[in-house]
Amino acid sequence: MNKLLMPCFALFFAACGNNPSGTSAANGAAATDSAASLLPNPDNFRDTVDGKVTGLYFLHNGAMTAAITNYGARVVSLIVPDKRGNPTDIVLGYDSIGKYLHRPETYFGAIVGRYGNRIAHAKFRLDGKEYTLFKNNGPNTLHGGKKGFGQVVWEARKLDTSTLQLTYLSKDGEEGYPGNLNVKVTYRLDSNGLRIAYDATTDKATVLNLTNHAYFNLNGQGSGTINNHLLQIHADRYTPVDSTLIPTGKIEPVAGTPFDFTKPAVIGRRVNDTANQQIKFGKGYDHNFVLLTAMADEASHVPAAVATGDLSGIVMKVYTDQPGIQFYTGNFLNGTDPLKAGKTDGYRTAFCLETQHFPNSPNEPLFPSTELKPGEKYHSETSYVFSAK
Ligand code: GLA
Repeated sequence: MNKLLMPCFALFFAACGNNPSGTSAANGAAATDSAASLLPNPDNFRDTVDGKVTGLYFLHNGAMTAAITNYGARVVSLIVPDKRGNPTDIVLGYDSIGKYLHRPETYFGAIVGRYGNRIAHAKFRLDGKEYTLFKNNGPNTLHGGKKGFGQVVWEARKLDTSTLQLTYLSKDGEEGYPGNLNVKVTYRLDSNGLRIAYDATTDKATVLNLTNHAYFNLNGQGSGTINNHLLQIHADRYTPVDSTLIPTGKIEPVAGTPFDFTKPAVIGRRVNDTANQQIKFGKGYDHNFVLLTAMADEASHVPAAVATGDLSGIVMKVYTDQPGIQFYTGNFLNGTDPLKAGKTDGYRTAFCLETQHFPNSPNEPLFPSTELKPGEKYHSETSYVFSAK
């Protein structure tokens, strides 16, 4: 970031303090700072939804800023410096709680649960009992059902200037899932990235697959398609799907297919290769990659995925302990949603890298298990680490 901007930026956040208001500083002198002026006005996030108060929380570490709302525990803005030091907002989002409540694209930046991605026929069996879920995606359930974790209000606690803790109690039977599930998501913006820790416990056996559904455009939200972004995914296999995007149960090699991102490749090169039936089913990329998990380890400096914005030079490395990653190329974005800063969400103007267990695991005994039992502690971590070149 431009060093001259730093003092203003720091002042802006000092003023924001520990409450969701963010204060009217968003409209004050400090907001003339170009980074701060990219942020939505926190007043637009003050509301009451389902009897609970919503707000917008800012995290900062000097070089980067995140804005997070407790409605759906969503990342609303993520501002990182590009190769010229210009602050760039790299996630798609809305500038008010009203738009999150009423616009058609419901997953921008959300924490997704109780089960991220699809469960076939909206049914699964656990310990001999069948559970029926809500069909919100053709014959299947998607991203938690009618009202998943991205559509509920979480309890928020700012732990320090760079850490926000969000908790939610998903009651026994909510959306058809068994067990009272206590979920905690901790967002921490450290010196080089956004870290997300997921924790959960249950009082009955259940299934769980938590992820974050940020839509990234590393050239800046609303700046055109992501087709020229470079992407590398450390996965030599993926889970092919049927026409309703449920995995067939097979795990197949990416070699020789449009799914081969083992070496950095331009996203747009084969995204429209509809001679490939999987690309046809997904209307582009909308598939789970089987990570070489031993490699997805920050300590050994090998990320699960690396994406680079062709114009901004912003490099995002994704680290996770999860076995899979859903790579989705914004195939359902259609320019009808008004984004922050007067931008729109055109077709293929964002991609998602949702770290996760495989879709439909509760019905696929050979996939890694997503069961959580009473007495067990669910813990998972994913980090998005940034640099520019
Ligand atoms: C996931 C799904 C996609 C789509 C998006 C949200 O990535 O796999 O099919 O539903 O979420 O639009």
